[in-house]
Amino acid sequence: MIVCKSQSEIEKMRRASMIVHDILEDLRQAVKPGMSTSELDAIAERKTRESGARPAFKGYRGYPKSLCTSINQEVVHGIPSERRVLKEGDIIGLDYGVIVEGYFGDAAITVPVGTVNGSLKKLLQVTEESLELGIAQVRPGHRISDIGSAVQQHAEASGFSVVREFCGHGIGTALHEDPQIPNYGTPGHGPILKEGMVLALEPMINEGTFQVKILEDQWTAVTVDGRNSAHFEHTVAVTHNGPWVLSRP
Ligand code: CO
Repeated sequence: MIVCKSQSEIEKMRRASMIVHDILEDLRQAVKPGMSTSELDAIAERKTRESGARPAFKGYRGYPKSLCTSINQEVVHGIPSERRVLKEGDIIGLDYGVIVEGYFGDAAITVPVGTVNGSLKKLLQVTEESLELGIAQVRPGHRISDIGSAVQQHAEASGFSVVREFCGHGIGTALHEDPQIPNYGTPGHGPILKEGMVLALEPMINEGTFQVKILEDQWTAVTVDGRNSAHFEHTVAVTHNGPWVLSRP
């Protein structure tokens, strides 16, 4: 069942999503060689409390931290740790969510650590472009698979692959609501988009194979071939004139 949100519910999700946006921009500035991922988690948690919101991921299905930090071949759900230190040339996915008055916002960016090589720059650019092409499909009357189709076409035309095992999702009074939103597929399938739906779109794009596996920690997803992966996410409302990206100013 897909729940459509009222204007006042969407306003709360806007507030949550903009707090996530602001924190991700602070983290983007903070990322430096020599920094540990647990320092980034501490910044996110402090800024969340200062804004009056609550972290959405901590305790979700037992997730131990507030932020997800996924470096290089890590796809999603990397757990921040003091022992994990960034180095020049890495890329790091920063995935964050908060709750405001019972409503969720969820977004992610992948950023370079210092200067990265040209092929990593291209991976970041194509992944962000794929998300934007997916967002452009968010309008009443379109179908869920139109989003994944747009993402997949651009990613594969650029020589990359699309992760299958994780999807985008509806979002509202829970982090994950219906529908699931695959980042691949053919157009014209799945639920029809309606005004008031709110969707978290989150393509994960790999340099090599799309196959992933989960590490011993039960959370960190990595590429099976050890090549790099990038992830961008926005929370997006369906309005009568098309997408409203709640996690963007
Ligand atoms: Co999400």
